[in-house]
Amino acid sequence: MATDKQPMPASATGVGSRPRRMSFLDRHKILEKNATLLLIFSFLVVTIGGLVQIVPLFYLENTIEKVEGMRPYTPLELAGRDIYVREGCYVCHSQMIRPMRDEVERYGHYSLAAESMYDHPFQWGSKRTGPDLARVGGRYSDEWHIDHLRDPQSVVPESVMPKYGFLEHRIIEPEHVGELLSTHRMVGVPYTDEMIENAVADFRAQADPDRDYDGLLERYGEDSVQVRNFDRQPGISEADALIAYLQMLGTLVDFSTFTPDASR
Ligand code: HEC
Repeated sequence: MATDKQPMPASATGVGSRPRRMSFLDRHKILEKNATLLLIFSFLVVTIGGLVQIVPLFYLENTIEKVEGMRPYTPLELAGRDIYVREGCYVCHSQMIRPMRDEVERYGHYSLAAESMYDHPFQWGSKRTGPDLARVGGRYSDEWHIDHLRDPQSVVPESVMPKYGFLEHRIIEPEHVGELLSTHRMVGVPYTDEMIENAVADFRAQADPDRDYDGLLERYGEDSVQVRNFDRQPGISEADALIAYLQMLGTLVDFSTFTPDASR
């Protein structure tokens, strides 16, 4: 009896005669409901995205445009840079001129990647309570910097910059400056053995023109190293180091001869 029962016509059950194909969203639902699968596929997507971004970098000759004039910091400048970091100057000052007209007109040529290549860590900063300092070197005299550090309001009455006069009274004993250079060599700054061996002598020579500074100029470049008593007082103080650093910022690349690479 049961055998001669006819199968019900498909239309009567409301189900199509062909099995319905799963829509894309239905298939995606499987992923959404299965945590492990979702994890595996997310990982795949992120991997592919990452490769698309990273692989081309291996085939570019160099991601940092080479420019003439860049050199590692001298021992005195490097010590000054440490003071800049210690005092948190980067909290109020950036060192990154963006390629926009208002910035270029105010501060000078926009910053190049190569200009930060020896900065560990970089000092681009993220806030400008004060002006950008990437090209402040040579803009003011040493005396201006001394006055400004002692009492910023004496030269810029509306300034909210704190006083840093104490830096003049703190003498730096440079016995560890060679180690400071070695540390920077460890992270890729091309300091030579000779630079490290002579670090203490170079440190003293840059702030004291009565010493023999020929070696310093030979090692770091005759045109780019400024030698003088920056704070105008005997002894090498933290103000000497900081002003030496400020006075060289942005002065290494000669922008009158620089032409940007068209492919970038
Ligand atoms: C609380 C924020 C603040 C901190 C911290 C600060 N500054 Fe300033 N700085 C300013 C402001 C605001 C100005 C602009 C007014 C003036 O010239 O004093 C300025 C101006 C300057 C200028 C002159 C720039 C120019 O182009 O006119 C220099 C150089 C400078 N600061 C160096 C430093 C150094 C070095 C430190 C760390 C030792 C430092 N500042 C810390 C706020 C700050």
